[in-house]
Amino acid sequence: MGTDKLAVLFVASEADGLIKSGGLADVARALPESLVSLGQDVRLSIPGYSNIQGLYEAPVVLKSELDFWPHTPYQVRQLALGEVVVYAIECERYFDRPQMYAEHNQAYIDNGERFAFFSAASLDMLPKLDFKPHLIHANDWHTGLVPYLLRQRYRENPYFQGIHSVLSIHNAVFKGVFSYDELRCLPEFHTKHVPEAAVSASHVTMLKAGVMTADKIVAVSPTYAKELTTELGSHGMGREFQQRSADLVGILNGCDYQMWNPKNDTLIPTNYTDEAQSLAQGKSDCKRALQERLELPTEPHAMYGMVCRLTHQKGIQYLTPILSDFLQHDVQVVIVGTGELAMATQLRAISDQFPDKFKFIEAYDNELAHWVEAGADFFLMPSEFEPCGLNQIYSMAYGTLPIVRSVGGLKDTVNDMLLDSANATGFVFDEPEPDKLLITMLRSLLLYEQNPQWILEVQQRAMNKDFSWHNAAQHYLELYHSALAKESLYR
Ligand code: GLC
Repeated sequence: MGTDKLAVLFVASEADGLIKSGGLADVARALPESLVSLGQDVRLSIPGYSNIQGLYEAPVVLKSELDFWPHTPYQVRQLALGEVVVYAIECERYFDRPQMYAEHNQAYIDNGERFAFFSAASLDMLPKLDFKPHLIHANDWHTGLVPYLLRQRYRENPYFQGIHSVLSIHNAVFKGVFSYDELRCLPEFHTKHVPEAAVSASHVTMLKAGVMTADKIVAVSPTYAKELTTELGSHGMGREFQQRSADLVGILNGCDYQMWNPKNDTLIPTNYTDEAQSLAQGKSDCKRALQERLELPTEPHAMYGMVCRLTHQKGIQYLTPILSDFLQHDVQVVIVGTGELAMATQLRAISDQFPDKFKFIEAYDNELAHWVEAGADFFLMPSEFEPCGLNQIYSMAYGTLPIVRSVGGLKDTVNDMLLDSANATGFVFDEPEPDKLLITMLRSLLLYEQNPQWILEVQQRAMNKDFSWHNAAQHYLELYHSALAKESLYR
């Protein structure tokens, strides 16, 4: 691997510290920061949403308009996330809205145009800012058009010669499907014949455009990289990923241990380490504080936590049918999250039935998420699919044993005692069925009640796992160099 400093433009639709809706934001903050700490020049491009913290105090470094039709005017403000330079691309008609993607569960009708514009402007601004990256790293469907435009629109442009592209797949269930008519803002699509992006005679997906044109593709875990080559695992794009399999790799996301570390987490009631006494004391203090906050009886029952969006992806549909059965035991369960109304309604009904055992907090609450990670004994992630998953990694750092389904990044990060007792860090089940989840939860409860020494050992092992971004960033650097070494298929 070369030691030269690489210049990289990282393009994402959200970034923690500025604006966040999910795990993509965590990665868009931590990965560029880690690469900068490895000596690389990585800058981030995000949409200039009007509700980004501190947007209007940030200096305007460029006022321009797209060089290509429809010549949309835009301006770029420069912010910072740690050492990372951030370019926020402002365009009032697209990004001055109450939310990023949707309101009242309804996606904005012009999302295709909004993110096509963002992708186009992320490239258009580069010569004007005099920033020439070696490589552009796009993320998910919102920026899938970046690799496509790089090869299509800028193929002959000397400034863009030699710039390579990488596309990360955080979640292929979202593809950005639009009709050609909805993407009239792209002159390249006026032919209504763009095979790299087409999924039918009338529709394209932005994700496919990126998958078919990026030099390299990264899935956010090794198992997810394999799953993407199947129809089921890619949600219907198996053929495309198979076609690109020589350029598809999986790199496990990292954990930001500055934010997620029970030793110095400023959000949790008591700090603790993996030393037996500190761990026992710390977790029991945090559990009691959590019980008080949730108005649950302060009993030493096993506490199960879950923090997630309420969607099918997260496997709520496996939990709700068995939750009442499970609550017959001496246990407490807390779920924190917002999302699909039907799921929220079901959870509310169960919590009305078991007020002393089950709390459903319908909120997106970062502080409470830290409290649950610290105060629970077990953390539930029975996902239907999970490209990487971060909460199971946070849980392990807090000695809160994850109960996960063997899928995607969950499979790559959690070991079950039944398979490998000496390396156990949690509980894993296979089939996507409520009964299988119930059996696994009961297995954990039995050990909690009958073998606390074993639980302690597993907690300590989990806490000592290292999923730092530093490691992941090294893998990305290798990948970047392999992308640069590649003679692009398309140029
Ligand atoms: C998406 C995936 C999640 C992954 C995250 C960051 O939110 O659903 O599994 O951890 O992206 O890559």
